[in-house]
Amino acid sequence: MAKLWEKGYNLDEVIERFTVGSDYVLDRELAGADAVASIAHVRMLGSVGLLEGDDAAALERELRGIARTAARGELTINREDEDCHTVLEALLTEALGEAGKRVHTGRSRNDQVTAATRLFTREYLLDITDSGLALVHRLLERAREEELTVMPGRTHLQIAMLSTFGLWLGSWAEQLLDDLEELETVARLNNRSPLGSAASYGVPLPLDRELTAHLLGFDSIQNNVLAVQHSRGTLDGRIVSVLAGIAMTLGRLAQDLILFSLPELGYVQLPLELCSGSSIMPQKRNPDVLELLRSRASLVEGWAMQCRGIVRDLPSGYNRDLQDTKEPLFRALHAVREELAVALILVDRLEPQREAMRSALNAEVFATDYAYDLVRQGVPFREAYLRAAREYGDRPLPDATEALRARTATGTPGNLNLGEPRGRAEALRKISRRRRREHRRALRDLVGGDLSLTSGDGERRNR
Ligand code: ARG
Repeated sequence: MAKLWEKGYNLDEVIERFTVGSDYVLDRELAGADAVASIAHVRMLGSVGLLEGDDAAALERELRGIARTAARGELTINREDEDCHTVLEALLTEALGEAGKRVHTGRSRNDQVTAATRLFTREYLLDITDSGLALVHRLLERAREEELTVMPGRTHLQIAMLSTFGLWLGSWAEQLLDDLEELETVARLNNRSPLGSAASYGVPLPLDRELTAHLLGFDSIQNNVLAVQHSRGTLDGRIVSVLAGIAMTLGRLAQDLILFSLPELGYVQLPLELCSGSSIMPQKRNPDVLELLRSRASLVEGWAMQCRGIVRDLPSGYNRDLQDTKEPLFRALHAVREELAVALILVDRLEPQREAMRSALNAEVFATDYAYDLVRQGVPFREAYLRAAREYGDRPLPDATEALRARTATGTPGNLNLGEPRGRAEALRKISRRRRREHRRALRDLVGGDLSLTSGDGERRNR
């Protein structure tokens, strides 16, 4: 296919291979979103009189077809094509002649790629938010079930005080809510339309930026056209950093489960279908899935650093460096969506071994409780502490349920106050439902039916 910038010379082959990199492969995933954004662009050009009505209608019809082909993963993009933007214009020109040559009026690949990336990212973030909330919901349900399941709480990994498996489950729900609230902030920044910013400086045409923003279901336009380019890469870095936060939460939860499922502790068992075996040791039941959740956290963190590193020293305006933020962004979106699906299966099916947890309660667990028994009798805390240090080992073990009941303050093992995280989850759910509705509305209106922009699942890249 002819390059969009072709002017009568051929690019050196080595240079071409280097500058295109893996972009043409990544763009197989982006092409659907590019076609959808182009429909909005074409409608806008029609509405401000920069395209004849017939041309706009014909372009829209072709673009719908391209969007569907791309969503099925059947759009071919070769290295010589450079990217999906080139293929799109070539297909339109091949089908419609003159009209195809008009589609690039008032835009540049720079705002085009940003618009497509934001739509694509929006859909991923919606999925990630929904799966994150499903995981929060299941963690809170199980926290309620395990409210009275006593276990030793640890600090420095050493036995500390009385805890419950319910407190542990609820803690990860609340940690994940922190992550998801942060994700909502970056999703909001992502949900502004870059279209009309063109190469970085706008164009001398009366483009209706608000119209394309509305058609595509963005909350608004991103105002300053140069700021649009500054946020490419920067915003990707912010998003991937938040995704790294989610991955870290899941990695740490996994780390605890690895410890809890040690035969020596046996607090938790993973059902057999979630464990892998060893090729040599017949008895093995390995928590590979948990270990990979732990390592993926580092991978996502690395991708965030890649995005931030690429933009750190960039001068104003578009720079080709930005192309290289695509891969870390796509990888992170895909990895975290997948991780959340995995974590949900784990949390849903893990089997708490209540007896093992209860029988791990020993005198050390209650040493501090003993000091507080003395405090309640009027002994000053420091004295009670010293007495408890000497005597705790000789005391009979108190009744754990009774001890739990003494913890009445909000958020403690005796009073999980699960309504609080449920309220936070509900608030996030409302926002994400509204955003999902807008996203569907825009796609239906532009493409004439339901379409997924992210069904490639990263697999397409490998074909
Ligand atoms: N593949 C390019 C990117 O992702 C598209 C934009 C190319 N723009 C340019 N001025 N060379 O950044």
